[in-house]
Amino acid sequence: MYYAEITGWGKCLPQTELTNDTLSTFVDTSDEWIQTRTGIQSRRISHVDTSKLAEVAGARALQTAGIDANELDLIIVATCSPDTLIPNIASKVQLDLGASKAAAFDMNAACTGFLYGLETATRMIQAGNYRHALVIGAERLTWYLDWGQRDTAVLFGDGAGAVVLSKTDKPTGLLQAQLGCDAEGRDVLAIPNFGTSMDRFNPNAGHFTFNFIGRDIFRRAVRGMGAAANLVLQRAELESDDIDVVIPHQANKRIIEALCEHAKIPLDKAFINIHKYGNTSAATVPIALCEAVEQGIVKPNSKILSAAFGAGLTWGASVIQW
Ligand code: ACO
Repeated sequence: MYYAEITGWGKCLPQTELTNDTLSTFVDTSDEWIQTRTGIQSRRISHVDTSKLAEVAGARALQTAGIDANELDLIIVATCSPDTLIPNIASKVQLDLGASKAAAFDMNAACTGFLYGLETATRMIQAGNYRHALVIGAERLTWYLDWGQRDTAVLFGDGAGAVVLSKTDKPTGLLQAQLGCDAEGRDVLAIPNFGTSMDRFNPNAGHFTFNFIGRDIFRRAVRGMGAAANLVLQRAELESDDIDVVIPHQANKRIIEALCEHAKIPLDKAFINIHKYGNTSAATVPIALCEAVEQGIVKPNSKILSAAFGAGLTWGASVIQW
């Protein structure tokens, strides 16, 4: 039986910061509203493509793992804001890193994308043919934003995080995962004026306008993540006390509080960095994981519970042994 050990981690946050106070100078909102409703204080804005953010995070993860790019067998980029749909951006990352032996594909499960990618790469390694995989969550969601639409303009930020997975015999890495999709909620969070959707030809549809019903997303997110978290704990035969650190998707501080309540885990075990970066979609989990390791919060043998939800509405939870 093989496992996929997390041997490397890295992140890339653009340098340009947009604080709530600055945002409030051109969006009809306030620092007080944003902080109270979401916990966000600031976010980063990228002036480079998503693939560049992905490449930098990936290169840093390879460096921590101590392996060369040409040793990689697989690259998965979880993103819903790729530079191009054709070709995928995993191929750009492969080219720029010099990982010419790696299979490379993008995965769109929105904010749950990294957990979908982590499970996919882990199972591919466990099947035996892949030795080293790079899983990246990377987004440039601010590119889609209509700054006149205040309900969404305040929520998102740009960034990327990555992990290297390496084949091993010891039981470590992703121990349990449950992924799902609440498709009845697919219209509560959507950018319909994109791709081959017939809505693209609707003259009334604005440039990348978000369909967004925040309260409905909130309710469905708590339900999906909470149920998935309890299920993976049960399957891993773990009590909530056995979890050392919670690495949640960073969409809203109140959603993180509700998740911890559902899983009966004290909130102080949750790693929260939403105040600095906002919602970076598929990148929130790997960025948070990376920061928690850098700060010594995730240590060797830590048991981590991660949970996420996103457009689709996709949801998922994982138990990871560090
Ligand atoms: N500034 C000031 N007021 C605002 C803003 C803003 N930025 N946005 C909305 N409001 C107003 C609304 O107009 C409304 O006013 P009204 O009562 O006079 O009509 C009021 O604030 C309340 O709005 P609600 O939507 O009810 O606020 P709520 O408490 O639900 O919080 C929020 C909104 C923060 C969006 C919350 O619902 C949420 O976090 N939902 C989850 C969204 C999310 O993060 N999704 C992530 C997935 S993204 C992906 O997959 C790519």
